[in-house]
Amino acid sequence: MRIDATKVRPQGRTFSFFGRVATVLPTIRRTIASGVLAAGLAGAGAISTAAAQSGDAARGEYLAKAGGCLGCHTEPRQGATPYAGGRELKTPFGTFYGPNITPHPAQGLGRWTEADFRRAMREGVRPDGAHYFPAFPYTSFTKITDSDAGHLWAYLKSLPPSDRPSRPHDLSFPFNIRLLVWFWKFMNFTPGPFRPDASKPAAINRGAYLVEALGHCGECHTPRDFLGGLKSTALAGAAVGPGGGKIPNLTPTGLGQWADADLKEFLTSGMTPEGDVAGGEMAEVIRNSTSQLVTDDMAALVAYLRTVPPQPAPGR
Ligand code: HEC
Ligand code: HEC
Repeated sequence: MRIDATKVRPQGRTFSFFGRVATVLPTIRRTIASGVLAAGLAGAGAISTAAAQSGDAARGEYLAKAGGCLGCHTEPRQGATPYAGGRELKTPFGTFYGPNITPHPAQGLGRWTEADFRRAMREGVRPDGAHYFPAFPYTSFTKITDSDAGHLWAYLKSLPPSDRPSRPHDLSFPFNIRLLVWFWKFMNFTPGPFRPDASKPAAINRGAYLVEALGHCGECHTPRDFLGGLKSTALAGAAVGPGGGKIPNLTPTGLGQWADADLKEFLTSGMTPEGDVAGGEMAEVIRNSTSQLVTDDMAALVAYLRTVPPQPAPGR
């Protein structure tokens, strides 16, 4: 399988987490003292990795597009093997490299069980128990339903195995300590699948699922606190995003002037109503992900964005 390098263009994509460790530690101590730790651990233990169902690889391929898995897990060069890893993700803490997630027994996920995969996606935990860095957006993928996780696994298992070794991350001390991620997760991460809101129409719930779980739109469009955790002002944007540029507000405050057709056009072709073209990170999201959505999913996504609570514009 060959891949068009223009679809996985390298970008100085950055993520912000951990915040200032010096500030984190006293907060954690306070939190532990308040007994929240026990509650947190009890909650984590309650997450069930549902019984294996046989997933549908074709369905999984579509879900992988909606989740943008390709971009982070493929080298940004012509002829790169899809999902064989190598994409660099620059952060203030160092550079992450998306690993090989093809079913190669030594270099990829060939020896993983489906339960290993479900735990990685739902809980951000490696088969050996170590914690994944949140550069892997499991903070959103935790919301993927059990059946969709099964389809994604069936798709990844169907890929040709690649022996390309995953490149180790290049992180500066102390961010190279995986145990530190435990603290970050404890402060910022609530595992568990998406729960539909029974009072809302099915299309709105579908749109919410596409935005919050698979599309992980909030990983960029929701502002973060000093710990790198997502704030409650979901999709409010940021005056200065992790990548240094402005991240637009996706709530009705920001998108009020856009007709549904404008939004669909933008998420399909990258053209804004003013005739501008989406830049940087969003261009990649559109290429790899939103432009691949089927009509009903695109309509659901747009309908959902209309229903999110308005938030003040970024920087105010
Ligand atoms: C924003 C970039 C990004 C996106 C999007 C992304 N990943 Fe990843 N993924 C990563 C990084 C970085 C790691 C390594 C994390 C670490 O080492 O702590 C990773 C790790 C993984 C792992 C564990 C691999 C191993 O060898 O332990 C799996 C499985 C995985 N991703 C699957 C997926 C799937 C499925 C999707 C799409 C639904 C996806 N990823 C989307 C960045 C991403
Ligand atoms: C990797 C970071 C990232 C992710 C993930 C992401 N976006 Fe964006 N988005 C951006 C950036 C950066 C811009 C600004 C692009 C520009 O200025 O050209 C943007 C712009 C937009 C705009 C244009 C808004 C305006 O007022 O100009 C829309 C709409 C949008 N994104 C929707 C989405 C949706 C829906 C998702 C999830 C499916 C998503 N984005 C996921 C980074 C991201």
